[in-house]
Amino acid sequence: MLKVCDVTKRYGKFTVLEHIDLEFTPGVYGLLAPNGAGKTTLMKLLTTLAFPTEGEIRYDGVEIRTMNAAYRELLGYLPQQMGYYPNQSPIQFLSYLAALKGMDRKLVPDRVEGLLELVGLLDVKRKKMRTFSGGMIQRVGIAQALLNDPKILILDEPTAGLDPSERVRFRNIIAGLSKDRIVILSTHIVSDVESVANRIVFLKDHQVALEAAPEEICLTMRGKVFEISLPDTELPRFEQSHRVLSIRQEHNWVHLRFTDGDIPAEAVPAEPTLEDAFLVFFR
Ligand SMILES: Nc1ncnc2c1ncn2[C@@H]1O[C@H](COP(=O)(O)OP(=O)(O)O)[C@@H](O)[C@H]1O
Ligand SMILES: [Mg+2]
Repeated sequence: MLKVCDVTKRYGKFTVLEHIDLEFTPGVYGLLAPNGAGKTTLMKLLTTLAFPTEGEIRYDGVEIRTMNAAYRELLGYLPQQMGYYPNQSPIQFLSYLAALKGMDRKLVPDRVEGLLELVGLLDVKRKKMRTFSGGMIQRVGIAQALLNDPKILILDEPTAGLDPSERVRFRNIIAGLSKDRIVILSTHIVSDVESVANRIVFLKDHQVALEAAPEEICLTMRGKVFEISLPDTELPRFEQSHRVLSIRQEHNWVHLRFTDGDIPAEAVPAEPTLEDAFLVFFR
């Protein structure tokens, strides 16, 4: 078990994270917060690329900074901005990283081939990465994070730059990986995690605002979300007295999801989504 114990992280006088307590067991965790909330900072602490100003992070009871190489062997990490050599092919890049990690040379070719198959890049395995789309680079990044079959997989904004079909593929890959493994992925896009994460962590005001299963979070909004259609001229007045969650325009009408305020007779109750909860939390 990976345990964050009362961790505070400051850069100079600036507090990024304050009194964070979290426990990670095998499963997929979605770290969800707007940009600048401290997601990358928390991930750097979990990877020992940075250290807490106060508090400790422990793996099976041992502080991770004292574990050194033994901890890094458990770890796979996709940084928010992954460096790579544009002139290398995925095979060259992954083999190079495998050598840096000290993997047994005899095992490397099969491992690299298997990972490229997993992320759907076998057909371009010898192509220079300079010709790749953002989504293809991201998939190379996921493959490199998996090289050592890590017990703890940390992916910082792994879906950035993926197109819709690549997002679906990504979700399927992650779902297949989470058995017996802690997977922590950060995003500011709700739909990237709601179907794949077992637990959602909301960061807000430097703290953990909420840590729960997606269904539990949706339950907190039960009976509070409604839909209504209005002539678009009535929208400004409606917005003053209600919290509008989404708007779809059709000709001179707007179809709204909303919460709060008095509920007009024409409003229809709606099934709350994680997106609704996210909007209420962060607005
Ligand atoms: N090395 C650093 N020195 C000073 N401030 C930093 C450093 N890293 C991050 N920050 C600040 O901490 C805050 C959180 O950043 P970050 O963890 O990157 O957030 P997120 O990943 O959620 O977008 C930001 O205000 C950022 O400017
Ligand atoms: Mg970040």
